Amino acid sequence: MTYPLNLELPWVEKYRPYTLNDIVGNKETINALKNIAKDGNLPHLIISGLPGIGKTTAALALSRDLLNNDEKLIKEAVLELNASDDRGIDIVRNLIKTFAQKKVTLPYNRQKIIILDEADSITSSAQQALRRTMEIYSSSTRFIFACNQSNKIIEPLQSRCSILRFNKLGDEEILTILKRVLDNENINTFTDDGLAALVFTSDGDMRQGINNLQSVYYGFKMINNENVFKLVDTPNPIIINKMIKMALRGSIDESIVILDSLIERGHSCIDIINICFRVSKTLQEVDNETVLTVLLLERLKAKEAKRRETGEDKIRAEAVKMKVVVKESEIQDIIRDVVRELPQGTSHISVKRLVQMVSDSRDGNIDVAVVEKVVNKMYSVSMNVVSLV
Ligand SMILES: Nc1ncnc2c1ncn2[C@@H]1O[C@H](COP(=O)(O)OP(=O)(O)OP(=O)(O)O)[C@@H](O)[C@H]1O
Ligand SMILES: [Mg+2]
Repeated sequence: MTYPLNLELPWVEKYRPYTLNDIVGNKETINALKNIAKDGNLPHLIISGLPGIGKTTAALALSRDLLNNDEKLIKEAVLELNASDDRGIDIVRNLIKTFAQKKVTLPYNRQKIIILDEADSITSSAQQALRRTMEIYSSSTRFIFACNQSNKIIEPLQSRCSILRFNKLGDEEILTILKRVLDNENINTFTDDGLAALVFTSDGDMRQGINNLQSVYYGFKMINNENVFKLVDTPNPIIINKMIKMALRGSIDESIVILDSLIERGHSCIDIINICFRVSKTLQEVDNETVLTVLLLERLKAKEAKRRETGEDKIRAEAVKMKVVVKESEIQDIIRDVVRELPQGTSHISVKRLVQMVSDSRDGNIDVAVVEKVVNKMYSVSMNVVSLV
């Protein structure tokens, strides 16, 4: 099979930094690696952290920098194994041992390097087998383990290594790299809100950010908020923002319409709630209470669906007809209970929302019209229902 000559690499690979200098973020950790690259004598390392933040990139760049970017030497002295290779005990015994025993002429204070990428997927028996190998050959061969969770590396290996943790990249850092790519690709069909959407959806994962950038550009040639969210399978935070604000103002019905449309588009409740939390962090006027409101909506929604399914609605209607409803005086007590459970510092709450919360707290087993009546009565006494407690 022949490939077209202009076959283009995915941008994540095309723009993978070759040297430690080009890696963005995790400054202190990268500086520590730079010192190792300068002085040599690499310790066994574990680099751990979330996906797409530069762990593999750092392991490769460190190896390059240690070996002065000498391609021939790098080929000879660096062995990189990742999860797609067999990770069983035989690989450890054979491949790694053979490499560790191999003689390579190296500059002063440099060793051969074995990079075990995605090390948390190496079987524990294979990890056990590494213990001796690491010790026996440690004068000539050093290990770098890259993984998402360092606790998946067995204790004896952890104790032989220095452990470095990489953090998620910050928004500014993601933006810097996206702009670097746009610049190099000579792309100027982007808007600020498009870049902000890419930063938001990447959530600190640079690989995700660059991949989304490439897909949006290839798909639409224009990088703006709308196109990013057309492509990315995340609820649009601008819409979530609107939904939260409506719920806050007490326009529950309108808010539910938005929620419905998000669910209809196939977004899962978990995704919606996650974005609610993230959006709430960026809004000054929004606090945990807001998020609770939205969560409440979610509960309500699920309950309604269940009611429709089980025909509970009919049962309730029957109950109302038979006047098996809670008395006004009881509802007052319930309202006090609900209000008491509000987050501290809540000073004002809309009638509509309070009604919602009260009927919700009784799992729908209450007459909303009666609640509304009682709440309104209490409200007319004071605009600040909370102070009624
Ligand atoms: N800190 C960074 N600076 C510059 N580019 C980065 C950085 N982190 C990631 N990238 C980009 O994202 C791509 C993926 O990064 P990398 O393979 O290092 O992720 P990783 O942390 O090893 O993730 P995983 O846990 O999934 O293996 C790189 O090829 C590079 O293009
Ligand atoms: Mg990796």
